[in-house]
Amino acid sequence: MERKARSLVFVLVLAVFSMVQAEGKMNIQKSAFGKTSGGQNVDLYTLTNDNGMVVKVTNWGATIVSVQVPDRSGKNADVVLGYDNLDGYLADKAYLGCTVGRYGNRIAKGRFTLEGKEYKLALNDGENHLHGGLAGFNKKLWQANEVKAADGVAVQMHYVSKDGEEGYPGNLDVSVTFGLDNKNQVKIDYLATTDKTTVVNLTNHSYFNLLGDAAGNILGHEVTINADRFTPVNKTLIPTGELAPVAGTPMDFKQPKAIGARIDDKYEQLVFGRGYDHNWVVNQAGASPWLAAKVFEPKTGRVMEVLTAEPGIQFYTGNFLDGTIKGKKGVAYQHRYGLCLETQHFPDSPNQPKFPSTTLKPGAKYQTTTIYRFSAK
Ligand code: BGC
Repeated sequence: MERKARSLVFVLVLAVFSMVQAEGKMNIQKSAFGKTSGGQNVDLYTLTNDNGMVVKVTNWGATIVSVQVPDRSGKNADVVLGYDNLDGYLADKAYLGCTVGRYGNRIAKGRFTLEGKEYKLALNDGENHLHGGLAGFNKKLWQANEVKAADGVAVQMHYVSKDGEEGYPGNLDVSVTFGLDNKNQVKIDYLATTDKTTVVNLTNHSYFNLLGDAAGNILGHEVTINADRFTPVNKTLIPTGELAPVAGTPMDFKQPKAIGARIDDKYEQLVFGRGYDHNWVVNQAGASPWLAAKVFEPKTGRVMEVLTAEPGIQFYTGNFLDGTIKGKKGVAYQHRYGLCLETQHFPDSPNQPKFPSTTLKPGAKYQTTTIYRFSAK
């Protein structure tokens, strides 16, 4: 009898021990996130690594919902803006956390010509086309599948954008894979193919705030951008075509600078952008992905590095946030409460023959990777 009791205790202790161990282990979990207005089920995938870092992704808009990373004392907090539930994302107009496509950023006057044929897109940003149109990839339900990752956990989102959708030519087959590893890296792999010549420029539109839980504006964050040049814009934020040196201007982030240090300078580009809302030309040395940008938040010690195989990065300082969005935990997202670092080809490339091409032809693969790497110091 006594022996039996002892072995029962032993088994129980073993069970509790393995449960505690399992908690610290890399895993991915799927849960229900709600339904679209058409009644389709939407899921939420929670990726956890061995360090306790947590990333949540939904297949509505292939959207990053939450990124919980430690500060210098080891305390986790959520460093991306977003909503507590699916309804927030269904109604969202600020592109919080989503995948942007078929063409991230602006196309002048919503027009471009490919192989002699002119295409017309929606004008949803004044006289220009922005972020894929009226219902871009952020407003689509993607098919999600957990996939094997050599060094972590990953979920792949798949969407087929039909020929003519939002005015773009060709059936575009798109996969976006979100991975998390034990180096605290969120890795996004993009893949696309087409059956007709088209343009493609995909990015992720997460707004980061390394204070955690959007505890204030991002003006104290220190930013480094690995770029000698940027693409100046006109007052509708369309590039002039020039690659201008950053040296001697408030666009120079080659050394770490607080965002707030020069953001309100009467420098024409900052006036046009209402702050930073520009594309930098990433310096490319050695093999990709290149370290394009780094953000350090001095109060919490959190650090984010952005690595990419893309030639450009849009640094946007949440200039259009004005407190009307009530985000997670009821926090109102005030002016400049989040910053975006959108890895991309340059804006309006379909109309800029000197910019790296965004044309994708049948038989070719659009394939690119971006990594958001977190640490604290
Ligand atoms: C653009 C901003 C735009 C914002 C929309 C950014 O990528 O550069 O101009 O207002 O997206 O949320």
